[in-house]
Amino acid sequence: MEKILILGVTSNIGYNLFKYWNSEFIYGVCRKSPFALNNNIFEEENYSINKIKILIDKCKPSVIINCLGINNPDECEKKKELSYELNYRFAASLVDACNETNIKLINFSSSLVFSGNKLLFNEESTPLALNYYGELKTNLDQYIRENSSNYLLLRLSTVVGKVKSFQRHNAVSHIVENIKRKNNLKLVSDSTTNYLYVKDLCQIIDKLILGNYTGEFNIAGDDILSRYELGKIILEAMHRDLKENFIEPCSHQDFNNLAKRPINISLNCNKLKKLLSYKMTPVKQFITEIIKDMET
Ligand SMILES: NC(=O)c1ccc[n+]([C@@H]2O[C@H](COP(=O)([O-])OP(=O)(O)OC[C@H]3O[C@@H](n4cnc5c(N)ncnc54)[C@H](OP(=O)(O)O)[C@@H]3O)[C@@H](O)[C@H]2O)c1
Repeated sequence: MEKILILGVTSNIGYNLFKYWNSEFIYGVCRKSPFALNNNIFEEENYSINKIKILIDKCKPSVIINCLGINNPDECEKKKELSYELNYRFAASLVDACNETNIKLINFSSSLVFSGNKLLFNEESTPLALNYYGELKTNLDQYIRENSSNYLLLRLSTVVGKVKSFQRHNAVSHIVENIKRKNNLKLVSDSTTNYLYVKDLCQIIDKLILGNYTGEFNIAGDDILSRYELGKIILEAMHRDLKENFIEPCSHQDFNNLAKRPINISLNCNKLKKLLSYKMTPVKQFITEIIKDMET
């Protein structure tokens, strides 16, 4: 197996990948480890490219997966300087470090680089970010295309799955927790995306690494849904009645978020589908799996 170094192993995606491979060949680094420290896990309070170069020397990975970032768009607007440093400047210097050491870099982009009236955005669509998070992603995508000699640039829709106590909630875990607590929920019904199950993402990344593929790929689920539709499927899977647990549809305009969001941002994944014969988990199935996972 390839040696892989995951930067930000506490992240939703990094943690799932670490658990998925569960191998002595996988290394992880984070600020404060949720795992017992051993030869595969490193703690780093302040990331710098020189510290990463020391880690590269120690682990000798052939792949680095960068999961670091301020990834909540509202947080990005609030902390522009820090977001620029981590989401763009550090990530760009990682491109250069990987080139020097002949390492494949896997970096994640986001559907939030897009906006507009298209139904589905593909890898050729012109970016038009509405917020700072999307702007930084757009700039980094361009830097990677122009400067990286060996990369996978994976553009994701909204990722869903079970979260650990030290991770931020995602669309599904947030709704499940609120239904369990019998909290009333207002869910947007006039904005849609094709949610991506984190376990599908792990398997796809595994296949892309095994096949030694490079380039830019969109990755998202097959079903396009609003958050309200997602909520109804979750309610049904939890065997709760709509009346008992009050899920209310609302408009995206009812939320006054700091970061502007596009209304419909679904990704066209035909490029990936042509390359890999991978069948995405249907939404009802992954929701059932996440609910079950959240009980353990
Ligand atoms: N999740 C999604 O829906 C989604 C969608 C599209 C693209 N992506 C991209 O995929 C990648 C991984 O996303 P994710 O959602 O898995 O990440 P996440 O759960 O938000 O985790 C972010 C990681 O960055 C670290 N981090 C945050 N602020 C930091 C700081 N100031 N200094 C050092 N480390 C810091 C966190 O460490 P601590 O645990 O120590 O805070 C954590 O390891 C990101 O590039 C993201 O933009 C994610």
